[in-house]
Order: sequence, then C-alpha cells, then structure tokens
Amino acid sequence: SQYEKGVKQLCEKGHIHAVPKKYILPVSERPTKSVEDSKVVNQNLQLPIIDFSELLGPNRPQALQSLANACQQYGFFQLVNHCISDDVVRSMIDVSGRFFDLPLEERGQYMTTDMAAPVRCGTSFSQTKDSVLCWRDFLKLLCHPLPDFLPHWPVSPVDFREVVGTYAEETRHLFLVVMEAILEGLGIVQNEEGEEESVVKEFENGSQMMVANFYPRCPEPELTLGIPPHSDYGFLTLLLQDEVEGLQVQYQDKWVTVQPIPNAFVVNVGDHLEIYSNGKYKSVLHRVVVNEVKSRMSVASLHSLPFNCTVKPSPKLVDEANPKRYMDTDFASFLAYVSSRGPNKKDFLESRK
Ligand code: SIN
Ligand code: FE2
Repeated sequence: SQYEKGVKQLCEKGHIHAVPKKYILPVSERPTKSVEDSKVVNQNLQLPIIDFSELLGPNRPQALQSLANACQQYGFFQLVNHCISDDVVRSMIDVSGRFFDLPLEERGQYMTTDMAAPVRCGTSFSQTKDSVLCWRDFLKLLCHPLPDFLPHWPVSPVDFREVVGTYAEETRHLFLVVMEAILEGLGIVQNEEGEEESVVKEFENGSQMMVANFYPRCPEPELTLGIPPHSDYGFLTLLLQDEVEGLQVQYQDKWVTVQPIPNAFVVNVGDHLEIYSNGKYKSVLHRVVVNEVKSRMSVASLHSLPFNCTVKPSPKLVDEANPKRYMDTDFASFLAYVSSRGPNKKDFLESRK
C-alpha cells in the first residue's frame, strides 16, 4: 500500500490538503491544538544546558553535579561545547537530507521488517503494530563495530559512508566520555578495581544504532504525531535536531518543547540506564509534533552495552535502603518485548526481581 512507502512519498504524490485517515489519532492522543493550553504544555521551561568543556576542566566536580541533577530531575539535557566540529555535525544533517531526497526506488531496497538488519528504512513508529500511523520516515543503521556494518550501508549519496562513518565514531567517543562522567557522578568511583572498570570496558564494545528521521510538512499537525510518546531503550541517546522545533519532553505531566540550539546535542537517559542506576535516573517519555510550514530532520544515536549483554542494577547502587528495583534483563528479550508491546515498557521492567 502507499502507506508502507512512507509519508515523504505520500506528500510527493501531489499536494496533500488533509491528513489521511490512517494517520489521525484518537482525540485523547492528539497533540494539543493550542500552545496556550498551559494544562498540557509548559512553555516557559528550558532543559538544563551542560557545557561539555567544563567536564574536562578544573570545574569537573561542579559539572558532574550539574550533570547528575539534569539526569535525575529531567532525564534530558542539552550538551554544548562538545568536541565534535560544526562541520561534522552539519555534514551529517546534510547527507541525511540528501538520502531522503533519493528516489523511492533507491531507498526502497532497504525497507525491511527485519529488526536485526544493519540498514533499515521504514515509516511510522512500529509499522507492523501501529493502529494509527505516524508522520515520520526513518533510516536506521547499526554502527559499532563500524567495520562490521559500514560495508552494508548505502553507497548513495556518494559521500554517505564517509560522512556517517565519521559522525558515528565521533558521537560514540562523545558518548563514552559523557557516560563515564555520569558513572562518576553516580558514585561508581573511577580507577577502582571492579565494576566501573568492567562496565566501561563493556561500553567499548557496546552497541550503537543511529536513526535518521524525516518529518515532512503536515497539513493538519494537530491530528497526528511524528513519533508517539516513548522512552529510548539504551543507556544514552545523543540527538541532533535541525533548526525546526518538534521534540517535546514530558516534565511534571506537561510537555516541554526542546528549543533547537545550533550544533548542540540533546542527550537523554534511556531504559537501560534507568535499570543500571536502580531507578535513580529515569528514562523520560518524549514525542515529536509535526509542523505545517516546515519539514524537520533529526539524527538520534542510541548507545548501550553489547546486544548479548544482561542489563541489571549496579551492585553499588543496591543496599538495604535501596533494594533492587529491576529484574535482570537480557537485551534480546527486552527488545523483543518492546517490539511486541509498543512504547510502554515500565510494567516489564519494574518489580520483577
Ligand atoms: C526520537 O525520539 O527518537 C526522535 C526525536 C526527534 O526527532 O527529535
Ligand atoms: Fe526517542
């Protein structure tokens, strides 16, 4: 059907004046029509901003504290002054845009429902399960170890592998540095024999999945969503958004729009870090609203332990006062569960020891 080919294709078939039925959410799930509705949207709040360079300098202790506060209170922050160059960041957005501009025949060869495919193009959130489709097309790439996956990546646009490969490696490096800072902030002390060392080593061989998202302009953005409310599965997601707003984060039962900051990363806590931190940090629901005037692009990089790992609360964060709140979960059954049950994972995670 036309829907499996995605929203970009749908919009290109002719000017679309109305959202087709398949994309129309039930009233209770629609984004609020009016940003003035203060019951639903908090307009005044901004996510915490973490200055990456402070983490590397003499103010590291204070920066670690800000990072810990951001993770605990919001589960989300914007990372500025990171070490990835503007050029690498801009090229990534640019090449993703050119990928989505390829004719459908070319992108179509990567459309598969095989979740383990190293390259996967698709549309909506979980195409085979969504009762209402979402206004998003995506490209997912497995990224680490790069030599295993890069040979499977698209060869068109011609600079795709080079640009995305560089971006993937630099983003992974940034993830490792931020992750180590978060572990230090959690009191899982550095340079000590034992756990921190082993978990950091595991991250060296960890999984990385990149998702480039394209959200075409939408004639009736109040009827549908780019992505429904969900949390991310990994430890951390590093997200790049272009200059068009659309990402909203849940904070105290209201939606907060994440203001685009040029070349900053939006970083968020995923389910695996929630488990590992024994619930000290929570993965937070977020969603994407679409735009009547502008299309939008984003690139998410999801990082976790290797796919064959078991995720469980850190023994350092479990004691008599803080009993173990999550069952041990192997990555594969977690992902299988997520893809079978949709975005609400908390019932699976909690109080099953
Ligand atoms: C996501 O939640 O994976 C995408 C967020 C975005 O497009 O801003
Ligand atoms: Fe997400």
